[in-house]
Amino acid sequence: MEEKNISNVESLQQRLRQQEKLASLGMLSAGIAHEIQNPLNFVINFSKMSSKLLTDLTDIVADNEDALPTDDREELDDIVADLKENMARIVEHGERAISIIQGILLVSRGKDNEFLPTDVARVVKEYVWLSYHAMRANYKDFNISIGEDYAQGLPQVMAIPQDLSRAVLNLMNNACYTVWKKQQHADPDYQPRIDIKVAMESNSQLSTLRSAQRDACPSKNSQLSTLNSQPCISITIADNGEGMTPEVKERLFENFFTTKPIGEGTGLGMAITRDIIENKHGGHLSFETEEGKGTTFTFTIPVKKP
Ligand SMILES: Nc1ncnc2c1ncn2[C@@H]1O[C@H](COP(=O)(O)OP(=O)(O)OP(=O)(O)O)[C@@H](O)[C@H]1O
Ligand SMILES: [Mg+2]
Repeated sequence: MEEKNISNVESLQQRLRQQEKLASLGMLSAGIAHEIQNPLNFVINFSKMSSKLLTDLTDIVADNEDALPTDDREELDDIVADLKENMARIVEHGERAISIIQGILLVSRGKDNEFLPTDVARVVKEYVWLSYHAMRANYKDFNISIGEDYAQGLPQVMAIPQDLSRAVLNLMNNACYTVWKKQQHADPDYQPRIDIKVAMESNSQLSTLRSAQRDACPSKNSQLSTLNSQPCISITIADNGEGMTPEVKERLFENFFTTKPIGEGTGLGMAITRDIIENKHGGHLSFETEEGKGTTFTFTIPVKKP
């Protein structure tokens, strides 16, 4: 018994050290992200300028059409077209890198607990892709389909952007991990997939959710009643990964509960996510899961500050 306790304490200490490492890594990467922005902007701006210069060049050549043999003229047109395409690629990928960097800065900067008008669909989209690219960089053979369904004309909600993004990032990281993990041992025809949906929560959906949750979790009644008349936005992240065993379902929100190998998970993600959604934003987090089939997480954020 004592031995077990000691090993529990050791594993907790190990996880705490891991968490501290992650926190300092977060600060370091925020610093790096900030520094990379400037040179990256140079790359983008000079590529755009070079594209314009190419257009000028084309105009000059067109004005002097007769001075060049036809063969040379065609070759020149081809080269200019290729160069323009290359420039467009540099700009496109550079802008993607900038948006990833801004995402990192949003998480690590921002005043604590400041509610700001937030475009939820934009934050969700940004962090879904941030997570996707991070997984691609860290897990070999990571290749999944992502379905996206963002309702048009959603109102801005009052939210703490860096907290909201942390919640999306954790749900998405978990979803990416489970589909990747399943792919390692599933049939070759298994197609890993994650579907994202952001929509206005309708009242009827809300009351179904409320009555289902009341049965499952009576202690949530007080929070749910505040949801009652509030318009909310709902965010769904559905994966076709491994699903959860009854034990994982039971312990999902426990601090330091993880099934991932040491170094890959601290087991704090879900606890932090629920705190952000329910305690800080007055929203609600629920999930459905089936072993071997996948998991769907849904959370709501009230449009107005709680
Ligand atoms: N979408 C999912 N599908 C299957 N299992 C999941 C899913 N999301 C979470 N889990 C299970 O719940 C556990 C706890 O998740 P949680 O996010 O709290 O911690 P973690 O992902 O292990 O570590 P981290 O602190 O880095 O997020 C996971 O280890 C995993 O077993
Ligand atoms: Mg996690």
